[in-house]
Amino acid sequence: MNILVVGNGGREHALVWKLRQSSKVKNIFVTPGNAGTAQIAQNLDISKTEEIIDWLKINSADLVVIGPDNYLSEGIVDKIQEIGIPVFGPTKNASEIEWSKSFAKKLMLEENIPTATFQIFNDFNAANLYIRNQKLPLVIKANGLALGKGVVIAENLIQAENAIKEIMSNKIYGDAGREIIIEEYLQGKEISIHAFCDGENVALFPASQDHKRIFDYDKGPNTGGMGTIAPVPWVTDKQMEEIEEKIVLPTIEALRKRGRIFQGILYPGIMITETGPKVIEFNARFGDPEAQSYMRILDTDLVDILFACVRGNLKSENIKWSNKSACCITCASRGYPSVSEKDKTINGLETARGIDIVIFHAGTKKEGNVTPTNGGRVLGITATGNNLSQSLTSAYEAIKSVSFDGMQYRKDIGAKSI
Ligand SMILES: Nc1ncnc2c1ncn2[C@@H]1O[C@H](COP(=O)(O)OP(=O)(O)O)[C@@H](O)[C@H]1O
Ligand SMILES: [Mg+2]
Repeated sequence: MNILVVGNGGREHALVWKLRQSSKVKNIFVTPGNAGTAQIAQNLDISKTEEIIDWLKINSADLVVIGPDNYLSEGIVDKIQEIGIPVFGPTKNASEIEWSKSFAKKLMLEENIPTATFQIFNDFNAANLYIRNQKLPLVIKANGLALGKGVVIAENLIQAENAIKEIMSNKIYGDAGREIIIEEYLQGKEISIHAFCDGENVALFPASQDHKRIFDYDKGPNTGGMGTIAPVPWVTDKQMEEIEEKIVLPTIEALRKRGRIFQGILYPGIMITETGPKVIEFNARFGDPEAQSYMRILDTDLVDILFACVRGNLKSENIKWSNKSACCITCASRGYPSVSEKDKTINGLETARGIDIVIFHAGTKKEGNVTPTNGGRVLGITATGNNLSQSLTSAYEAIKSVSFDGMQYRKDIGAKSI
């Protein structure tokens, strides 16, 4: 089989790495990929939806896998389906659950799916009036995709007013901020849930946990993700059952009833609160860096699972996860998450030591014999171990050998779960 993977992050390198292990796979193409995918697949120097469609019309593929969210909201899946090629990922209308937070919130309200209480506003004055008599902190969200930056947790009225002004009047996220959601602040512990979905059936992954803030002890601004662990040792089977029964299955069913068949990865962010798990938001694709930890402990051929989702027969697939524990530590550039440095030579990629280490590339490029940095998040150092602390020890040992000018990483990934 020939497979095309769309994207250029650590998530895509991890997916390609896992797909490469399948005996069914011959060629893997990546649009546009990075220096890591170049080692195990063929990068194509295209990245726009239309360019990818044109390439597929000429070259075809047996399966296309979509990594990033923005392609889903552009309807890339619908366009690939139109030319008759199997594609893993939800259609534009099914992925609205990610690209419109107000759509997701209304769906949850109608279907009684547990989430923070909320109000939706497209009027600046009405939003400002509303916040006057709400309990603080308040969470203010731009409706659309905002590169993971469209959420403000306002501790006081002034912060809330500022957030509303920035998003609605100053339009710092453009059209994504035409509508806003103001919601209740949920107290609890946050986890990431992923489920393979075939439109009707679901198969949950073990729980994982991302670390969103740039600095140790959850300080500083939000990032795309500074590191993950999977599974999360304190999440119970009972909690996972509750999440499947009360959140994941009802959501897929609600979408199906509305003519939005969801095939792909449903990835709800979940807050485990005193009154049970509640949805923070839905994503419609693999998380990054979650995928980097997950691919290290998935024991079933990924090609088989992806096809089962696309063909609607996930039920017949027996998905196995190893009993190991995985972690991923993100190495980021100086300046990230605002303006990141680039073009720094990376050292130690070949010599990094540690038990069971795999290094996934994100913002890297291949230039002759050197691999310079090419973005905010540069590498994901992943490790597995018999338990969480073994995998973390191993990853933190390996990271000592890797360096580039300005490299920063968190020292406390997984620490709260040990
Ligand atoms: N209602 C809420 N209560 C507490 N924290 C929240 C709430 N909504 C969002 N957050 C925090 O803000 C982060 C970003 O919000 P999210 O809805 O996931 O948006 P996005 O990932 O699109 O930026 C979450 O990971 C969570 O830590
Ligand atoms: Mg999120």
